[in-house]
Amino acid sequence: MSKITVSGGKPLKGRVDLKGAKNLVTKAMVAALLGDGPSELRDVPFISDVEIVSRLLQLHGVQINHAEDGTMSLDPSNVKSARMVDIDAHAGSSRIPILFCGPLLHQLGEAFIPGLGGCHIGDRPIDYHFEVLRNFGAVIEELPNGTRLSAPKGLKGAKISLPYPSVGATEQVLLTATRAEGLTELSGAAIEPEIMDLIAILQKMGAIISVDTDRVIRIEGVKRLGGYSHRALFDRNEAASWAAAALATKGDIFVGGARQQELTTFLNVFRKVGGAFDISDEGIRFWHPGGDLNPVVIETDVHPGFMTDWQQPLVVALTQAKGLSIVHETVYENRFGFTDALVEMGAQIQIYRECLGGTPCRFGQRNFNHSAVISGPTPLKGADIRVPDLRGGFSHMVAALAAEGVSNVTNVQLISRGYEHFLQKLTDLGADFTYSENE
Ligand code: EPU
Repeated sequence: MSKITVSGGKPLKGRVDLKGAKNLVTKAMVAALLGDGPSELRDVPFISDVEIVSRLLQLHGVQINHAEDGTMSLDPSNVKSARMVDIDAHAGSSRIPILFCGPLLHQLGEAFIPGLGGCHIGDRPIDYHFEVLRNFGAVIEELPNGTRLSAPKGLKGAKISLPYPSVGATEQVLLTATRAEGLTELSGAAIEPEIMDLIAILQKMGAIISVDTDRVIRIEGVKRLGGYSHRALFDRNEAASWAAAALATKGDIFVGGARQQELTTFLNVFRKVGGAFDISDEGIRFWHPGGDLNPVVIETDVHPGFMTDWQQPLVVALTQAKGLSIVHETVYENRFGFTDALVEMGAQIQIYRECLGGTPCRFGQRNFNHSAVISGPTPLKGADIRVPDLRGGFSHMVAALAAEGVSNVTNVQLISRGYEHFLQKLTDLGADFTYSENE
């Protein structure tokens, strides 16, 4: 386990540059499996989620090269079944393996998926995924160490309706339907920018996909797909994270590669809180303009709403706003565990089971602590913290950097699942810290 010792209380100032979005790149890598020729994906970050997906693809015979500049080549010409024991070694490391199902069924007629991992921010069931796959004709067999899938009659297009616009389940449909026989109509689809970028990639490969304005996606199955050449969409979650870090530490950060279009909802809230930003062709500069920050009421939601992944870093900044802020988390039932550490550092945050936003959500009247009231401003002081999950971990680091005194933050390797060169970026922003491994 790795540890960072932070001397906080100094504004983060400088420049960080973004690469492709974790939540697109990993899926784009899986899409390459569907092609009968090589693909090239540019701006692929060096993060551990990418490493895990690379290893799983390599186990299935995909040749991968990830160059220093972030260009990744993926050649699926020799796709083969992998040994269950080798796949199983990756159990619990990521949620992406569930998306291998459709492509492997198309390429090999069978798939074996290890137990899934990912952040502990709720139960994170995969019932929609299995329902989707059954709709296409897949047969699913749960084994003690994973799931085996087959498609004895091939995969056929289907009419599917999702009970909630799940990002992963929408991607499952896309990656399965493009080569399934006949038409697929998906209603209740997620329409996050990362999904639109995946659709762009699949179109480059030869897929026929149309997106309606009412969350309906139609896919006409094709017999074969080729490779693609694509520059990945920038990581808007990382951009929002550094923006929140600038605000919480009274700093000034230029985020190279950030674009306004995919961040408009975030920018509106950032402005309402009192943060300043300046948008240029090269990126977005975020800074604390001085004076008090304002409290806000936020409800997280699927796109085009305020993303759940932006909530955690922003809560740290809201501990410095003057008055009561309310955050109603409607995507995950359990994403406020990270606030315990903030309270230990001096923040005043209370968590409620009730829906405190304007819109009752599916977690209301149930036992889920999914609304937070943050009362500020409260000075933060250094503490010993253990990183709980990716975004929560980033938030803890920001709190430690904003706090007076010394903090010891352990389990920080989790942050490298989604933030490339995290420690180097902190150094570039003038953070005062030491890092040690194997604590
Ligand atoms: N859900 C189900 N059943 C399913 C699938 C989802 O009930 O079969 C529920 C989930 O439990 C959750 C909601 O639906 O309450 C939304 O989940 P979704 O499927 O949209 O999330 P995901 O695909 O597992 C991706 C990102 C998350 C991001 C969400 C929402 C990846 C690898 N992960 O997760 O990113 O928060 O979409 O936008 O793309 C992160 O980057 O830190 C992260 C957690």
